[in-house]
Amino acid sequence: MRKKIVAGNWKMNKNLAETESLLSGLKENVGGISGAEIIVAPTFTNLSKTTQELKSTNIKVAAQNMHQAENGAFTGEISADMLKSIDVEIVILGHSERRAYFGETDQLLAEKVNTALKHNMTVIFCFGEELQDRKSNGHFSVVENQLKNGLFHIDASAWKNIVLAYEPVWAIGTGETASPDQAQEMHAFIRATIGKAFNEEIADEVSILYGGSVKPNNAKEIFAKPDVDGGLIGGASLDAESFGTIAKAI
Ligand code: G3P
Repeated sequence: MRKKIVAGNWKMNKNLAETESLLSGLKENVGGISGAEIIVAPTFTNLSKTTQELKSTNIKVAAQNMHQAENGAFTGEISADMLKSIDVEIVILGHSERRAYFGETDQLLAEKVNTALKHNMTVIFCFGEELQDRKSNGHFSVVENQLKNGLFHIDASAWKNIVLAYEPVWAIGTGETASPDQAQEMHAFIRATIGKAFNEEIADEVSILYGGSVKPNNAKEIFAKPDVDGGLIGGASLDAESFGTIAKAI
């Protein structure tokens, strides 16, 4: 049975004091949830504090990114080994903001995936089409290429370390959520694409999260779709009550 997951991507938000306040709210609102795996992804500066604060809870911690090299002259970057050294075992890769603002290509992401898998980390692999792709009915081929070029080189055995996050770019931070049917249609396509490229067992087992303006008032309907296994939440994850409502909607 594939995992249900609700993950909060805090992006570049919450200083140390704000993080501590949100974490105490999360323990209250999310701490007892058993129907889904709960993950939060604070900024790098708060990762260590967060892993310590959440150690004895059901809430896991992810990094929002990492470099593909083991170490070296990469000013400002963070390595897999550094994340593992503070007990961070999960990393988000390929977020559309990394692709758009920092030029992360499918090839670079394939290298990052390899490094994360080498360190036995769990990868939340993000992908999704732009509005013009969907308007021109090119969204399926865009998503298929992002998966094939960034992820499909991995061994079949590595899929146990992969979580997928379909995030249509036009829905991120816009309030324009994909409809439950739109999400289901794409998730079913993604699962079928994996089934053809690998096998049905892998396709059935992989958790596919939806991300893009998931809110307390729309989460239940989206999560109820058969091929939606949870969500990757941005803005709404910065409020403990909202994130708790979304997590309970699974
Ligand atoms: O990674 C999740 C994020 O991109 C979704 O953001 O604010 O639309 O929930 P938001």
